Amino acid sequence: MQRATDSLEQEHRTIEKILRVTGVLVDELAENRDIDDDILRDLCQFLRVYGHQCHHGKEESYLFPMLESHGVPEEGCPLGALRHEHERSRVLTQELVQASADYAANGHDGSSALSEVLRNIAQFYPAHIWKEEYLLFPMARKVLSEEDDQRLLKEFKSVESDIYSYAHESYEQLATELEDRVVKTSPKMIAGTGRVA
Ligand SMILES: [Fe+2]
Ligand SMILES: [Fe+2]
Repeated sequence: MQRATDSLEQEHRTIEKILRVTGVLVDELAENRDIDDDILRDLCQFLRVYGHQCHHGKEESYLFPMLESHGVPEEGCPLGALRHEHERSRVLTQELVQASADYAANGHDGSSALSEVLRNIAQFYPAHIWKEEYLLFPMARKVLSEEDDQRLLKEFKSVESDIYSYAHESYEQLATELEDRVVKTSPKMIAGTGRVA
């Protein structure tokens, strides 16, 4: 039986593709290479729709309240802290939207703000994902019954269809395409290490 936390972990793997893209873009800017505007647009769109509306939406609107209904405290660690981090990630996405718009408007001059926000995003998410996978989800698996999991999985589907049909699949495809386009063609990969530094 698939558990609700398994499906959230699968989404973390998709978000990690985008984090690898973000890491490569930071390196590209450090080496004064241009980033195509459409890559930044896709990145902003992915973080907004798949990251916030879909993934954080499932956690905040359904998983966290379900855990609270089983007595997990609303404030403090872990739920209060994770909600606070979701807020921080929304701010980072807004900063990325602004920095990308400025980068395009300035003809790709002055990329330090863009570089800083990309670096902040690449640093933020791994720690957040770690806390969920090693602290929150193991606890959730102890607390939730099979019925709870079934209900959550249905609610997660409703979050996806509230965005639009096939949005979830199309954003997962976008993450794979961006990874293929940015990470697998980066000079560091081509240099033959087989891994991105
Ligand atoms: Fe989260
Ligand atoms: Fe998550």
